[in-house]
Amino acid sequence: MKLLEKMVYMNVLMTIMAIWFVSISYGQGAESPMAGVVAEAPTIDDASDSPGADGFNNGWYDARATFYGDIHGGETQKGACGYGDLFRQGYGLATAALSTALFNNGYTCGACFEVMCAHDPQWCLPGSIKITATNFCPPNYSKTTDLWCNPPQKHFDLSLAMFLRIAKYKAGVVPVRYRRVPCSKTGGVKFETKGNPYFLMVLPYNVGGAGDIKAMQVKGSRTGWITMRKNWGQHLTTNVVLTGQGLSFRVTTSDGVTKDFMNVAPHNWGFGQTFDGKINF
Ligand SMILES: *[C@@H]1O[C@H](CO)[C@@H](O)[C@H](O)[C@H]1NC(C)=O
Repeated sequence: MKLLEKMVYMNVLMTIMAIWFVSISYGQGAESPMAGVVAEAPTIDDASDSPGADGFNNGWYDARATFYGDIHGGETQKGACGYGDLFRQGYGLATAALSTALFNNGYTCGACFEVMCAHDPQWCLPGSIKITATNFCPPNYSKTTDLWCNPPQKHFDLSLAMFLRIAKYKAGVVPVRYRRVPCSKTGGVKFETKGNPYFLMVLPYNVGGAGDIKAMQVKGSRTGWITMRKNWGQHLTTNVVLTGQGLSFRVTTSDGVTKDFMNVAPHNWGFGQTFDGKINF
């Protein structure tokens, strides 16, 4: 195959893989775990005009929450943002799958939210939790009841451990209030390399500050800054071949803050490795 054909082929292949991965990973979705004992949820009245996941304005908004996975975080690992072992990557169980309205086509991946149960004395527990968006709760248009994750509804499908800190298990689904909060992460932003020489895909994770990424550029030691394209979840890609060159990254989070992570990967970097950006937002 000629080089160009190879590149096109790889692109198509990766896209198909991405679509396939997203569709198999979220079959679970946020089915109401206990349909018979669902607490009454309020009507969501600010769905159309609130800033949703993009609003970093300290405002509280209405949503609902359910849980998925077991108490150890089974089923909550990996997910539509492209993260892997969430314990190893520092997210632990403090994660959620977001409905379409909040997920924003993957742009909300990595964003942090404070969530509290509200308006439901029977099922709510006091206090709040802080979670990072790591997954997508897919809509199911063939359902007629319990449409928690269908647009335009705002929904957090929490890990079970997180759900149990704000509500009783038997509630199944509860109304919540939520707001964006800064992500507090330990250590530097990490960059995981995926893909192949003709399709470099990078997953930045452990991102502090706003947490979600608006734009990213990569620089080889012999190139200028190259704008990367958003792929699925929190992945960014370029077709520029950068093997054999040291890599630097320029990351812009959703709040407009840009930081340079210089010489993060040495010239002999490989695919499937993770590099420490040393600094964070
Ligand atoms: C969507 O909802 C229908 C009807 O409840 C159900 O049969 C189906 O399994 C659901 N699909 C997924 C992917 O969860």
